[in-house]
Amino acid sequence: MSSLVWVELDRAAPEHNLRQLRAGADPGVIACAVIKSNAYGHGAAEIASLLPSAEWFGVNSLDEGLELRRRGITRPIILLGHVALGELEAAVEADLGLTVYNRETIARLSSCSSLPRPARIHVKVDTGTARQGVMPEELEDFLLLVKRSRNCALEGISTHYANIEDTLNHDYAELQMARFASALDVVDRTVGRPPFIHTACTAAALLFTSTHFTMLRSGIGLYGLWPSRETLLAAREKGGSVPEFRPVLTWKTRIVQIKTIPEGSCVGYGCSYKTMRVTTLGVLPVGYADGYDRAMGNRAHVLIRGRRAPVIGRICMNLCMVDLTDVPVAKLEDEVVLLGKSGEERISAETMAEWSGTINYETVTRISPLLPRKVL
Ligand SMILES: Cc1ncc(COP(=O)(O)O)c(C=O)c1O
Repeated sequence: MSSLVWVELDRAAPEHNLRQLRAGADPGVIACAVIKSNAYGHGAAEIASLLPSAEWFGVNSLDEGLELRRRGITRPIILLGHVALGELEAAVEADLGLTVYNRETIARLSSCSSLPRPARIHVKVDTGTARQGVMPEELEDFLLLVKRSRNCALEGISTHYANIEDTLNHDYAELQMARFASALDVVDRTVGRPPFIHTACTAAALLFTSTHFTMLRSGIGLYGLWPSRETLLAAREKGGSVPEFRPVLTWKTRIVQIKTIPEGSCVGYGCSYKTMRVTTLGVLPVGYADGYDRAMGNRAHVLIRGRRAPVIGRICMNLCMVDLTDVPVAKLEDEVVLLGKSGEERISAETMAEWSGTINYETVTRISPLLPRKVL
């Protein structure tokens, strides 16, 4: 037994999910697989290797991009997050595309004397998310600056939607789409349209083909997860075939102690749980340091041999406790499924997210990168 807490990845699921995402797109539309933040907790290098048909990869930081290059990934990579001015050269040397929205970035790039190639610039337009991006009224000047600047090659134009996932009312998303269409008019008029136009996160890719342009830029669907219940409902309402996503990840641990404790015993810090019967207690070597959220104490379940066992007491940094009284078959070092399937039972990322008051994205993304990822 090499590790007491680990993540298993279904080898075939990422490509299956990518096919689901591509199903509604024209054949010429390529896919940028968003594998930032350790591929939403799944393991970036592992997921990249399980997506041989993804034409591009999107990551957040320079470090993530460099790590993929170190792992031998030669496909195009775009850095979706910010690159510090002092690190722009390193990004260009590693041939990483840049999401650009600051004049200072262009100025710094054009002042570099020895770049091996022009920087691959993707100008991001803020169409209403109020995050990174050039404001539409400043776009024309910004594009002309890029065009005039040494070492800069305009390769893409992008935007990101604020409110596709969270609602069945897509008025705001449609407003952003209209603003992006106007931005593309400016691009066409001033510098000409570059080859890569990308706006489609998973929900946009599934619900609005008009967001596809030349490249999807999707993450959560690749991992077999719906962006939200609203996205699933909206996809059903639209009719046609609804994608069947296959979750990629199972998160497991093992029981490290089983013992009987009397009725009335306190369990864990703060004595937040008191047994109401003689209880078979199981100790699990997983805690909030691993990404198993402390808010799930006294709320979550785990699965052992296809049976549910409730988490009792608070979740500690490296441990938590479960009630095994109704799972008498449980044995020391048995596998425990924290997230995923066991027999007929399943704990989904959505259920776990509900237990800890968050969304499936966060639940999987915060699984510690230190835990091993095993491809099965
Ligand atoms: C800039 C950007 N593009 C694309 C995505 C992918 O979104 P999703 O995981 O909803 O497909 C994200 C996700 O956070 C993002 O921040």
